[in-house]
Amino acid sequence: MKKITIAIDGYSSTGKSTVAKQLADHLGYVYVDSGAMYRAVTLYAMQHDIISKNHFDTLKLKQSLGSIDLKFKKEYVWSKAHIFLNEQDVEDKIRNLEVSEFVSPIATIHEVRKKLVAQQQQMGLEKGVVMDGRDIGTVVFPNAELKIFMNASAQERAQRRYKELLERSENIQFDEVLKNIQERDHIDTTRQDSPLVKAADAIEIDNSEMNLEDQFHTVLQLAKDRI
Ligand code: C5P
Repeated sequence: MKKITIAIDGYSSTGKSTVAKQLADHLGYVYVDSGAMYRAVTLYAMQHDIISKNHFDTLKLKQSLGSIDLKFKKEYVWSKAHIFLNEQDVEDKIRNLEVSEFVSPIATIHEVRKKLVAQQQQMGLEKGVVMDGRDIGTVVFPNAELKIFMNASAQERAQRRYKELLERSENIQFDEVLKNIQERDHIDTTRQDSPLVKAADAIEIDNSEMNLEDQFHTVLQLAKDRI
């Protein structure tokens, strides 16, 4: 069967990764969470005194890029793959609110994007890949056979994210989560290098009122139409 490239972009916490993982497992495709790569670089920057509340040493970040090695490793299915930063499994360390606060500034840096985009393109060379992020349909795979742009209201997205963080037993307030989502949306859509925009040929799905099953079947049908 023909293999295609599926690009899923959209605002923070729109459920991109949920549908991307379902799709990848169903089709037997590789799943790549590009946001995890920006998050892992951010974790590295936090651990190496490159970024904190009061400072951001962009020069040191650029000089450190050669020392940052990222890999996805899976045991059974791609939807359960973990990201490794310099051979260390950091999957559980990159989803907290602290990393979320610094990741968008880190993702504005051209050299960071250049490195990660090159690796993402490499991972998609053989097609049969579902990748989610902010610039997948516009920059990473402009020729993807299927491009989805996911959206939902900021309130709804913050609710979902808040629930997720509570389940991970993070001690947080809803307003903090909403503020973080709004700030990331703002930085992601207004940055100079590859801002988040809907690709001209992307299909927009607003899932504010959709359940996961309907969403999955809608996207799966779009994929099947192209295979
Ligand atoms: O997808 P996730 O919310 O984990 O992404 C975290 C952040 O990484 C985004 O808010 C954005 O700043 C950055 N990102 C990006 N380009 C991508 C994926 C993520 O700039 N392709």
